[in-house]
Amino acid sequence: MPERPFHILGIPGSLRRLSMNRGLLLAAREVAPPGIEIKITDLLPIPLYNADVEDAGVPPAVETFWREIREADALLIAVPEYNYSIPGVLKNAIDWATRPPGKSVLQGKAVALMGAGGRGGTVRSQFALRQVLLNSETYVLLKPELYVYQAGSRFDAEGRLTDEEVRNRLPPLLTALVKWTRAVAYMTDDAP
Ligand SMILES: Cc1cc2nc3c(=O)[nH]c(=O)nc-3n(C[C@H](O)[C@H](O)[C@H](O)COP(=O)(O)O)c2cc1C
Repeated sequence: MPERPFHILGIPGSLRRLSMNRGLLLAAREVAPPGIEIKITDLLPIPLYNADVEDAGVPPAVETFWREIREADALLIAVPEYNYSIPGVLKNAIDWATRPPGKSVLQGKAVALMGAGGRGGTVRSQFALRQVLLNSETYVLLKPELYVYQAGSRFDAEGRLTDEEVRNRLPPLLTALVKWTRAVAYMTDDAP
């Protein structure tokens, strides 16, 4: 019996249609080793977190996001850098994903990070994202790190990755995430 595919949910931290971070996830999907499938979500429909809204009933877009996270074996977040930190839309989505306390779909999930940015290559936003994720009880992969410097010169006008060196660094990150997920499952006794 072949093993079932390993499901990664790709989360782009940008709403832009031609986002380079979405493009990085699309490239990861193209070069994923056999047995790894990547679904890419969209944060656009997720409303701003508001406890009044939550009390009145969790919005369908949030329910969908929760389900996508629940169904994934692991998460891969592609984060831009806004003012040395993560974009508000990503922070908002993570805030929703940590609800309700004690029952969050993030609990125990393995996560890998990457990001396409300017001269800083998203180093600062990835660091900020690690801090945000500390309270979520996710397990964030340490290495390999993937920072795409001067991303504007590595993607075409349609947001497609054109840089072979960056493309070649995607499969090792995916493979490390699969191994990491298994290590986390062993540790938390929740094998995928
Ligand atoms: C409000 C705002 C703040 C930004 N701040 C930074 C920053 O601190 N460092 C950086 O490298 N790029 C910064 N940028 C540039 C973004 O990283 C760039 O727009 C990038 O293309 C966004 O990723 P995307 O292509 O996935 O949308 C900023 C952009 C915006 C809109």
